[in-house]
Amino acid sequence: MNVPVIAIDGPSGSGKGTLARLLAARLGWHLLDSGALYRLTALAALRRGVALDDAPTLARVAAELDVHFESDGSREGRILLDGVEVGAELRTETTGNAASCVASVPQVREALFERQRRFAVAPGLVADGRDMGTVVFPDAALKVYLDASAQVRAERRYKQLKEKGIGANLADLVAEIRARDERDMNRSVAPLRPAEDALMLDSSTIGIDAVLDQVMVWMRERLGEARH
Ligand code: DC
Repeated sequence: MNVPVIAIDGPSGSGKGTLARLLAARLGWHLLDSGALYRLTALAALRRGVALDDAPTLARVAAELDVHFESDGSREGRILLDGVEVGAELRTETTGNAASCVASVPQVREALFERQRRFAVAPGLVADGRDMGTVVFPDAALKVYLDASAQVRAERRYKQLKEKGIGANLADLVAEIRARDERDMNRSVAPLRPAEDALMLDSSTIGIDAVLDQVMVWMRERLGEARH
């Protein structure tokens, strides 16, 4: 099996989710939103009353996760957990923080490893996460590490929340983002860091269109004009 994979890693708010979705749509490839798997594991655990530090039970929840991604795991498509649609609950701060705890449990990461690998199906996969290039798809044809300053990421989050009619404090958001980065970058397993062969991109001062254009250039260089 030699399915081409583009691994996109980086901190939350860097725009990697949007980039991955646009890239997958442009190429007609599959999409893996690996953060959603950690969020779903956290949600399933919370619903079952499993403590977020009960590693063996969390690993079992992750291994037995009954999840179905409609329209290929895209953030736009419906996601079913135990046959029931998961709505906005998946993207709340509560679920995100629980996901960050669950994601620091090595047995959970192990349990989700094969499930993530199975997304690599022809004609290709765009994989979005924190350890796509370092752990899950070390053989990826192209690895991109998309970053942005904590201030810019907090401002984006602030705008998103405001659009949803949710009030927030910018300084608090900057502090929360820094705390989340700290946890994701310093955990003992699969910490957030660029793969050695990742191409670095900073979206602090450029828009998503420019980010997408740059990645398409790299993509053509790596995979050749024949494909796209
Ligand atoms: O990208 P996100 O906010 O949906 O991710 C939710 C949490 O899952 C985040 O705290 C980091 C973690 N995560 C991870 O550890 N590894 C991944 N490949 C994806 C997400």
